[in-house]
Amino acid sequence: MGTYRSSDWFGKKDKMGLVYRSWMKNQGMPEDMFDGRPVIGICNTWSELTPCNAHLRDIAESVRRGVLEAGGFPLEFPIMSLGETLLKPTAMLFRNLASMDAEESIRGNPIDGVVLLTGCDKTTPSTLMGAASVDLPTIVVPGGPMLNGKYKGQDIGSGTSAWKFTEELKKGNITYEEYEEVESCMSRSPGHCMTMGTASTMACMAESLGMTLTGGAAIPAVDARRKRLAQLSGRRIVEMVKEDLRMSKILTRNAFENAIKINAAIGGSSNFIIHLTAIAGRIGVPLNLDDFDDIGSKIPLLVNLMPSGKFLMEDFYYAGGVPAVIKQMQSILKTDTITVSGKTHAENISNGGVNYNEEVIYALENPIIVEAGITVLKGNLAINGAVIKPSAATPSLMQHRGRAVVFEDIEDYHLRIDDPDLDIDESCVMVLKTVGPVGYPGMPEVGNMTLPKKLLDQGVTDMVRISDGRMSGTAYGTVVLHVSPESAIGGNLGLVQNGDFIALDVANKSIHLEVSDEELALRRSNWVAPAAVAARGYVNMYINHVQQADKGADLDFLVGGSGSKVTRDSH
Ligand code: FES
Ligand code: MG
Repeated sequence: MGTYRSSDWFGKKDKMGLVYRSWMKNQGMPEDMFDGRPVIGICNTWSELTPCNAHLRDIAESVRRGVLEAGGFPLEFPIMSLGETLLKPTAMLFRNLASMDAEESIRGNPIDGVVLLTGCDKTTPSTLMGAASVDLPTIVVPGGPMLNGKYKGQDIGSGTSAWKFTEELKKGNITYEEYEEVESCMSRSPGHCMTMGTASTMACMAESLGMTLTGGAAIPAVDARRKRLAQLSGRRIVEMVKEDLRMSKILTRNAFENAIKINAAIGGSSNFIIHLTAIAGRIGVPLNLDDFDDIGSKIPLLVNLMPSGKFLMEDFYYAGGVPAVIKQMQSILKTDTITVSGKTHAENISNGGVNYNEEVIYALENPIIVEAGITVLKGNLAINGAVIKPSAATPSLMQHRGRAVVFEDIEDYHLRIDDPDLDIDESCVMVLKTVGPVGYPGMPEVGNMTLPKKLLDQGVTDMVRISDGRMSGTAYGTVVLHVSPESAIGGNLGLVQNGDFIALDVANKSIHLEVSDEELALRRSNWVAPAAVAARGYVNMYINHVQQADKGADLDFLVGGSGSKVTRDSH
């Protein structure tokens, strides 16, 4: 057995050693737990306020069992848990804060290796970002998706069906009682959203990067094999410590490229771009917005899941999950990248990766869409880029010129969207300002604005929408997101006026505001920045330090890592 960093605590023979050990012994730890064995932190994002992660204490028990079996010393600790549904103004505002919690909790404690228990959207990137800045041996155990939603004999998906049924209610097609019934039918087991929303996307990202054991992303939260995965991960992290298999050995540029390609093939959320960029920044792998287009936009869509497709995560798991996707894509991935198993992706799937259902996972030669990845748009409306997810968009709108209908902020939108006198038709382009990282703050998922009621009543199902915000991974539509620079810091998006014409051309990757440079300069000289939203606290720090969407919306001073060394004692 080697000497691990935890011996700087538990291995000391002096007063400090007594302090470090004695207080731990109040939990009933026997002497030999301090004999230099690997100490494994179980970083738990359990919280009843994060319903998607509410079962993680159970999962932690399975991890603990595995750690003990392998001769490690498991220590579970909580960190800030971000729930997508309850947290206002948006969980994204606190992703970087949670990452700081994870980073400092790991580094400051006697931990040799860490298991990240994740689930809801932000809990995966925040913990990965924090852990990457410490760079210890680390393994992700995702909490797994909920069982498929079932309503009146139909499969219904988290989020995705919420949009649909809300429109049905708005149109008067269903009663409020039926609407309440949908709530229970949509979320009927522990776990995270079971569409290919952001949580599923993040779990698949972790597996694609090589950060979970094989098949870790898709097992339903309540399937016994989820606990089995957790127990095996507990055993494996102890070995990873002995092998010194740190995150930086797994998170190579090739691993990131694989993740981008796999995300395109599974139809993953547009939020993937922001989170992967932030993780790359922490581990020191160069990755920019154009990489997502260059590497991902030509990749075929293979996985038929909502919101773009038909099925849900349970079906994806039974069809073979991420290993089956990797097998299909072997010719276009770099499968010699090492994973937490200590083996490469290619080795992990050498006896597996079987596709059991070609309606759910299409063959590479016969994809759903030939080129599916997220497209990066540039133009005077988004000088540093914007993104669109073509697989969620309406083909006929992907080349479109329309008159702008501008909402200055989210309150303005809510105030006027259903006004019968609003001057808007289906050919218009809806523009929403002040929903970027600084402006909102926190870049919420409001980019997929619900269409005006009067147009929904006419049967309009989609319109071009543009904002500096994000959209839920469970949402769909011809929605241009992540406009950078954002309106609140003086981006041209902030200068758009009602009646301007905007041209979207996805094939040519452009988003153009048809207003002359002279006129834009004139508008800029009259432009007044919106008032700062917070004079103190974390939010004040956030708005002063957050980077724009194309840089991953991390805080500028968090980019990079500080390693795992702590040289000074506490007393
Ligand atoms: Fe938690 Fe969707 S709200 S995963
Ligand atoms: Mg979401």
